[in-house]
Amino acid sequence: NDDGTQRMLEAHQWLSKLYHHLLVNTAEGKEALHYLTERGFTREAIDTFQLGYAPDRPGVVATFLEKKGYHPQEMVKAGLLSSTENGEYLDRFRGRIIFPLRNHLGKTVAFAGRSLGDGQPKYLNSPETSVFHKGKLLYNFDLARGYIRKQNTIVLLEGYADVISAYEGGIKGSIATMGTSVTPAQAQLMNRYAEKVIICYDGDEPGIEASVKTAKELQKAGIQVYIARVPNRQDPDEFIKAEGGDRFKKEVLDTSEPFVGYLMRYYRSRYNLQSEGDRFDYIETVIREVAKLDRAVEREYYLQEIANEFSLSLETLKEEMAKWRPKQKDLGDNQSQQRYTKRSESQTS
Ligand code: GTP
Ligand code: MN
Ligand code: MN
Ligand code: MN
Ligand code: MN
Repeated sequence: NDDGTQRMLEAHQWLSKLYHHLLVNTAEGKEALHYLTERGFTREAIDTFQLGYAPDRPGVVATFLEKKGYHPQEMVKAGLLSSTENGEYLDRFRGRIIFPLRNHLGKTVAFAGRSLGDGQPKYLNSPETSVFHKGKLLYNFDLARGYIRKQNTIVLLEGYADVISAYEGGIKGSIATMGTSVTPAQAQLMNRYAEKVIICYDGDEPGIEASVKTAKELQKAGIQVYIARVPNRQDPDEFIKAEGGDRFKKEVLDTSEPFVGYLMRYYRSRYNLQSEGDRFDYIETVIREVAKLDRAVEREYYLQEIANEFSLSLETLKEEMAKWRPKQKDLGDNQSQQRYTKRSESQTS
């Protein structure tokens, strides 16, 4: 019910304040604060994102929230405590840096806790609750929303640390999901606020793999997808800390390319294009992607590239692409749902 939701949000707000206080004002938080400072997080960023510290001692959450009038069972439901078999309660987050996860209205609905060293898991998130659905939340969306609308562009990063560094570096319209997968719900939400998304995942192998998967999900939602690449296997946080936000914007974001161009290089490095079967798969895959591009110039540019690469005529490729072109929206009949599906033979003949 509504009252339960309200109490859960307030509990998160209280706890977020406590964790932040423990980080910035107490001896207990010193090591964590040192860790963050060493990593180059400014005091301003620590305050803006309400970073905190959850100490590794028993009863932190229960003692604090009981004083605020909460029952342990409520805290369990909020994912802040877990109950053990012998009726004890354990704090979920112990000895971790706390990143509050805010919903689009700026209300903290969950936490992510990062271990200070190499402890596993690196990040521990709150469980799903009535106020936290990780497949729906976009990290930093509340602060980024205004910039996103104005620029008609979303910068999608992998991690919380990346988003905070980007924010500090002057890139305010960036968000992240809870990891590298994007759900249809998140894609639709993004599509409501901007036409274009620049995916800028980590420059390592998992980041590159995930870029392709995410790009496909975003395209399904009708988003124009661009891919930006961080050099030297760095992630955006590392790049920005080393080179600054201006260089990140100029050298990484501004040099992003439409997904299809990225896809072509991705496939070339993975498919054996000497084999005929692979070659046709590759060509068809790329043509389907090219067909989705809005601008005729862009379509022709990439088709020409394939034409050159495989000594094919541009005309043939155009013909092939026509089969995959989205139908005009203003045809206005029920077939417009087929936007991205192949036209049936009877329609094309
Ligand atoms: P730092 O090492 O603190 O800079 O974090 P990072 O953001 O660079 O981490 P990484 O690139 O490994 O992961 C990106 C995102 O994936 C994180 O922000 C988390 O949302 C998520 N993630 C990473 N590790 C874990 C994990 O062990 N468990 C869970 N649940 N999520 C993780
Ligand atoms: Mn503060
Ligand atoms: Mn990563
Ligand atoms: Mn990373
Ligand atoms: Mn990182």
